[in-house]
Amino acid sequence: MASRRDFLALSAVAAAAGVAAPRLMAAEKGGDNEQGRRDEALPNNPPLAMDRFPPEHKYGVGGTQMGNMYRVTSNEEARAMLAAAWESGTRYFDTSPWYGLGLSERRMGHFLSDRDPSEYLLSTKVGRLLTPDASVGSVGMWKGNLRTDYRYDYSADGVRRSIEDSLQRMGVSKIDLAYIHDLSPDNEDMGSQWKEYFEIARKGAIPELERLRDEGIIGGWGMGVNEIEPSLAAMDAGNPDVILQATQYTLLNHRDALDRLFPACRKRDVSLVIGAPLGSGFLAGSNHWMYSTDIPDGFAEQRDRISAIAREHGTNLRTAALQFTAAPDVVGATIPGARTAEHARENQASMTVDIPAEFWDALKSEGLIESDAPVPG
Ligand SMILES: NC(=O)c1ccc[n+]([C@@H]2O[C@H](COP(=O)([O-])OP(=O)(O)OC[C@H]3O[C@@H](n4cnc5c(N)ncnc54)[C@H](OP(=O)(O)O)[C@@H]3O)[C@@H](O)[C@H]2O)c1
Repeated sequence: MASRRDFLALSAVAAAAGVAAPRLMAAEKGGDNEQGRRDEALPNNPPLAMDRFPPEHKYGVGGTQMGNMYRVTSNEEARAMLAAAWESGTRYFDTSPWYGLGLSERRMGHFLSDRDPSEYLLSTKVGRLLTPDASVGSVGMWKGNLRTDYRYDYSADGVRRSIEDSLQRMGVSKIDLAYIHDLSPDNEDMGSQWKEYFEIARKGAIPELERLRDEGIIGGWGMGVNEIEPSLAAMDAGNPDVILQATQYTLLNHRDALDRLFPACRKRDVSLVIGAPLGSGFLAGSNHWMYSTDIPDGFAEQRDRISAIAREHGTNLRTAALQFTAAPDVVGATIPGARTAEHARENQASMTVDIPAEFWDALKSEGLIESDAPVPG
């Protein structure tokens, strides 16, 4: 039987072979046709959708840029990015109600609603409910006239409503993965109170997402967070399928994930999706490291050295950064964000080229990455 941890990787193989491997996961969880409470307002197609999860390269595209992260992105630019991603073979798309207060979901949904739902995998998030509000302009790093406010709701009813809202907002017929979003100490709205929010989720969101999965309304659930602690807590509180772990596993920071997160995921058969694999842009050459312009000491030098060694081995920093995050056995997919069509094409291409083993040996021998970090090949 397929382990839950393996389902993302297995499904890629299955897609290539025309075999519906992750159907095993549906069966393991009660299947799509088993009895159970069903909400008539919600769709009835996943987890069948998981059978056809098709990324050939453990790769997807993130949705923060489609939500005007850092700067306004036009509808044309967003549409071109999504079209280029699709045309170059990307089939996993991640978004959230939070990204641009609904804007990223609207754009992704508009694009995907024209596509056959069996051909792509879509994840979104729960935990914030949106309300129209004409007085709201930009919110934090989301730019533009958003005209939408938000409130947290990690209750059972809140999560069910969030899924329903997202389906309506996107105009799609399915959500494959639902991640509990930003329930984490780094979330400035909660800080040390995150544990109180977590308690609400433990009693509300988590069992409800498991019900939604068992009912076949979503394919699976997990956390979508920037720190490791909430991911570990969720594995104690329920049975997540996939955790979107952002900001904790890149070429420049991976020790903690190797020590604490990966062993827990292996033990619990949980897959990882890696968010912010480019450090929010730093590993693609920008001056943002994890959503801040405060760059930790030594990181610029480390980046430059890795970049130089990459060039010596006929590759580049961004390609190395992306492939590094997809290499571990516990990782199902890495999901860099792309703003332009060129980004989408370049990032997809980065996942399909071979990097010589000598490159990784050089990084390890210079102590630029941990000696026990998994590398491609
Ligand atoms: N808590 C959570 O659940 C959570 C948290 C973080 C991220 N995520 C997910 O992970 C995804 C990825 O994170 P992210 O997009 O924030 O950060 P990222 O993937 O680490 O970096 C994306 C940035 O890198 C730059 N970039 C990307 N491709 C490039 C290319 N080919 N050439 C040059 N520059 C390039 C762009 O910077 P510019 O825009 O400056 O050009 C882009 O905004 C998100 O979109 C989201 O889906 C989830």
